[in-house]
Amino acid sequence: MKKYLSLLLLIPVFTKSQLLSAKFIIPKPASVISDPGVFHFSSRTKIIADKLFIETAGLLSESMGISSKNIESGTPSNTVGIIRILRKQPLGKNNTPEYTIKITIDSIHIESASVIGAIHAVQSISQLAILQTTFGSIPCSRIVDYPEFNYRGLMLDVSRNFFPISYIKKLLGLMSLYKLNNLHLHLTDDAGWRLEINKYPELTNHAAWRPQRNWKEWWKADRSYASAADPLAYGGFYTKADIKEIIQYANMRGINLIPELEFPGHSGEVVATYPNLGCLGTNGKQSEYCLGNDSTFLFFENLLSEVIDLFPSPYIHIGGDEADQQNWKKCPKCRERMRVNHLKDEKELQSYAIKRLEKFINSKGRKLIGWDEILDGGLAESATVMSWRGEAGGISAAKMNHDVIMTPGAYMYFDAYQQDPATQPEAIGGYLPIEKVYQYNPVPAVLEKEKQKYIKGVQANLWTEYIPTMEQADYMLFPRMLALSEVGWTNNANKIWDDFTERMQPHYAILKKFSVNYCRPSYQVQVDTKTDTKERTSLVTLHSEQWLPEIYYTLDGSTPSQNAINYSGPFQIIGSANLRASILRDGKAQGKPASYDIEIHKALGKKITYLKKYSASYPAASAATLTDGLKGGLTYSDGRWQGFETDMDLIIDLEENTPLQVVRSRFMQLIGPGVYMPDYIEVSVSEDGKQYSPVNKCTNDISIKDPSLLFKIFEVDLTGLKGRYVRFFAKNHSGFLFTDEIVVD
Ligand code: ACM
Ligand code: ZN
Repeated sequence: MKKYLSLLLLIPVFTKSQLLSAKFIIPKPASVISDPGVFHFSSRTKIIADKLFIETAGLLSESMGISSKNIESGTPSNTVGIIRILRKQPLGKNNTPEYTIKITIDSIHIESASVIGAIHAVQSISQLAILQTTFGSIPCSRIVDYPEFNYRGLMLDVSRNFFPISYIKKLLGLMSLYKLNNLHLHLTDDAGWRLEINKYPELTNHAAWRPQRNWKEWWKADRSYASAADPLAYGGFYTKADIKEIIQYANMRGINLIPELEFPGHSGEVVATYPNLGCLGTNGKQSEYCLGNDSTFLFFENLLSEVIDLFPSPYIHIGGDEADQQNWKKCPKCRERMRVNHLKDEKELQSYAIKRLEKFINSKGRKLIGWDEILDGGLAESATVMSWRGEAGGISAAKMNHDVIMTPGAYMYFDAYQQDPATQPEAIGGYLPIEKVYQYNPVPAVLEKEKQKYIKGVQANLWTEYIPTMEQADYMLFPRMLALSEVGWTNNANKIWDDFTERMQPHYAILKKFSVNYCRPSYQVQVDTKTDTKERTSLVTLHSEQWLPEIYYTLDGSTPSQNAINYSGPFQIIGSANLRASILRDGKAQGKPASYDIEIHKALGKKITYLKKYSASYPAASAATLTDGLKGGLTYSDGRWQGFETDMDLIIDLEENTPLQVVRSRFMQLIGPGVYMPDYIEVSVSEDGKQYSPVNKCTNDISIKDPSLLFKIFEVDLTGLKGRYVRFFAKNHSGFLFTDEIVVD
């Protein structure tokens, strides 16, 4: 076995007395130059700010422990020992987010042309101050900074779980510290209406409360509502005064608050309150508005009027996602609307409705934004699209010259598990480790250059079906929110995962200071392999969420200890191995070792003919996937697992008549999204590709009711047989089959 030298130079972990330089700021600034020397400050340090920046200077004084009495406006009389926040010339660029900072031994000098730029500068200084273990010292440096994307957002679902304004403020404080600038509140959904509306008080009287504390129990029960006075009532809503308070708090911190009112789906709480707004009236439960009914539009425009009066946001979000169109098909009013307006299907009916609301929103000087379903049936004239069902919606919209916010499920849904689900509190599903968030680039590679400007930014979403507490919300948001911050702010070419991991270390202390219940970085070792199917060798890279982990590994299936091999960089393996790897601290393994089978087998690199094609949505590496030697990880969407919506039926050509012993293949089960073990697999062998015999079978013995993430290897013994062609069949139970390799030996 050959071993490559590590490419990483080991950098000593920072010692306590060392000052942390400005390169530790997250998100990483566009340019940082460190200079020798230190600026010292105390509670008596003066802050002299331009009139425009007095409020922003208040933020800085708070985080640096400087008395607010020491803030003055105007020109400084003395230049030593002060912090200056100056308005940069030429003026007139009111929204430019750029700022510069020069920290010398004598002073801190901040310049910006706008309040928003000054807020960003102040947050950079705040971070630098609170990052230090000796408070009161900041290392000298020069920073020039501006964001890559103008929109850097976070969505909080306050319908499935209601959050008090104290929590919203905590989030706003942290968002501002990490330079996120849009908080999108999902205010309405089946599980509860969360905003006071003067014209329709019944919405909150009737649908802001429910009999069950947790969404999951409510969903499993009869999904009814309660009154605030019921002893078991759970819920709540924001009054207009609450919202004004939140907006003022957000505005001071450079954050816009976007209200979302769901339309025309996800509106069961509205139709339960006003049954005349649904197609079924009082004859059944429904989550959609009736789009044939003029009262629907009058009602929604009245809602929008109050929301637009309350929220200064340039964007008003009208939802648009996941509307069930069944009732519209049957409803006489909806049919009539379609006939009169020459709408060919229900998608066009929804598009008609969204366009009608867009006119109203535009007439009030605001812009409509919606989930990517607003593309279906025709996109409203100037709508902005939030692309969540992957990036395809965003790409289509950008090609039509519409603004886009990227928030694809696979990278930006923070309700997904962030570590091995077996070690985590229950979540909705999926698998989104922080590294995957960090690697996301909001500009799709396939989008032509002149359309890239329509990608305005990126957003992460926290849906709260499985997030019943503030502690759990913290846990799902952090530290992934810091990765999001850098995805939105920092140029993609400046994003380096190892560098980010190092810079993250002192930020855990900041999160602790702000009482954030963040998820600790995992000790799990991740195994990445590249197999050369011709040379029959594998290049192995081991890494983890830990900074400078001590990784030890074995290749014979034994448990790694200090006597195992110490990992120092990518290494090559010839042939098969059962690789086990652990992080050791003080000689003790942290958690369960990673286990990865490297299998150099007879079908490696051989051609597969698919008698039934794999799913177009989950091709992985297409026809190479099942004989490339690469194993999948914890999610079927990692590009290693191939999905099938039918039975699997394929033939592997070994190119010559070969003595055989075994065929095995690993499958995944996760019944939530409909991924099942096969009922059985069946293998047959042929020398000429015509006559196949004999058939051997391996039957499933895993419960198809078990909701956890499960893996099983199906194996068929072929001892004594010879053949060139191996036919592999797997019976689809229902939904999807996923497998990562077919090993032939
Ligand atoms: C969504 O996740 N339904 C936008
Ligand atoms: Zn209808």
